Amino acid sequence: MDNYLYIALPKGRLADETIEIFNKIIPNSSVQFNSRKLQVKDEVNEIIYLLVKPSDVLTYVNSGSCDLGIVGKDTIDEERKEIYELVDLNIGKCKLAIAGLPSFNLKQNKMIKIATKYPNITQKYFEKSNKKTEIFKLNGSVELAPIIGLSDVIVDIVETGKTLKENGLEVLEDMHQLSARLVSNKSSYRLKYNRINTLIDLLEQEVKNND
Ligand code: PRP
Repeated sequence: MDNYLYIALPKGRLADETIEIFNKIIPNSSVQFNSRKLQVKDEVNEIIYLLVKPSDVLTYVNSGSCDLGIVGKDTIDEERKEIYELVDLNIGKCKLAIAGLPSFNLKQNKMIKIATKYPNITQKYFEKSNKKTEIFKLNGSVELAPIIGLSDVIVDIVETGKTLKENGLEVLEDMHQLSARLVSNKSSYRLKYNRINTLIDLLEQEVKNND
């Protein structure tokens, strides 16, 4: 393998925000995403950025195909891969919440049916309160589930709250705050220790400055 640092970025707003930060903190970095090109090379700093589906970032990092990745805390907690979580970038901020129809009583003692993209996080969360649950794993449009009667509630990401509102649902209980993290696989961290730690220091300083 060459000397390049391979970084997997989640396509979309988070990749744009990450590159904006990297261009600011890495000397002579002026990377731009402006076409359908999925791989962008910073020859000066020997970094290759790969634009991947957000849900695929951890696969690239965990397999060793990429040294580093930017990924949401929700995905890290759900997938439980053996990776290092290095820096909280304080971007992509949102929360994970239990939501449902306003009339639904979460405190009731009956079994609760839950639809979610996050079955592992959901199971762990409800185990703590000893509640009986039936969990349905969905891949998107989760808000439909309580409307159509597939579930009583959903566990999902809430950012602006617009999707819930437009579908007649509301937050019944907040679970966790979420944000994007820099992650690495263990072997890259060891082999590229100096380069990765220089990046960590720069990122931590930048996050601190914006706090
Ligand atoms: C996410 C999430 C919610 C929505 C929340 O879905 O699952 O549906 O965004 O954002 P809001 O609070 O700003 O409305 P995404 O857009 O990823 O689409 P999906 O349903 O296909 O997963």
